Amino acid sequence: MTTSANGTGLFIAFEGGDGAGKSTQSRLLAEALRGRGMVVVQTREPGGTEIGEKLRSLVLDHGHGEIDPRTEALMYAAARAAHVEQLIRPALARGEAVITDRYIDSSVAYQGIGRGLGTQEVRDLNAWATGSLWPDFTVVLDVDPVEGRARRAPGGEDRLESEPDSFHAQVRNAYLEAAAAAPERYLVIDARQDVPVIAGLILDRVEQVLSAHGATSAVATGAGPGSPGAGA
Ligand code: TYD
Repeated sequence: MTTSANGTGLFIAFEGGDGAGKSTQSRLLAEALRGRGMVVVQTREPGGTEIGEKLRSLVLDHGHGEIDPRTEALMYAAARAAHVEQLIRPALARGEAVITDRYIDSSVAYQGIGRGLGTQEVRDLNAWATGSLWPDFTVVLDVDPVEGRARRAPGGEDRLESEPDSFHAQVRNAYLEAAAAAPERYLVIDARQDVPVIAGLILDRVEQVLSAHGATSAVATGAGPGSPGAGA
């Protein structure tokens, strides 16, 4: 049982530019922690709930006309409020681990810096939306914007992805600044490394976080140690 700031569970966020490999790495970490007997909820933003997935298509599709920056920030925050209320807090209260692909730092980076709304304003908005639920730990997968664009799956870019490289460079800097300001709560990883290498680095650090929280497992299920593909 952990003694997280967020109840009994452990709350981990994956952040980074588009094309950094967050979804692969969050899946591998979830598998590795399950292999160590933890109950893990793996989720994403915007999304994770019915209303969140609807907001996701509204905010990401090109077909809804112009969306001004404040409206955009509120849509992400609304999806996040539902996510926290319906999925994340209940799981943490049950003592489970929650791994989310993107969270508040995405809004700080994309809306606060990228759209110019201001980091403190966007932090305040999201503190209100989530009842000040912050992750215990955040992994930033760092990727150069040009490389990120090249790595993205073909098939059309969403509204945010289609922003110019200069926008994505600002987003990248925002993540690096957030991590530099609180190194004990962040791990920044060069996303150009091989998938198993990155997975191993993440797992090592998350195990340290777990021990610092006073336990090696949140809700043991009796499953065996180790996990395929985790690289550690
Ligand atoms: P993501 O799910 O990572 O995109 P995909 O699965 O298509 O790679 O994120 C969707 C986009 O939304 C991404 O470009 C970042 C953006 N975003 C924000 O601008 N603010 C936010 O708060 C969040 C969560 C995402």
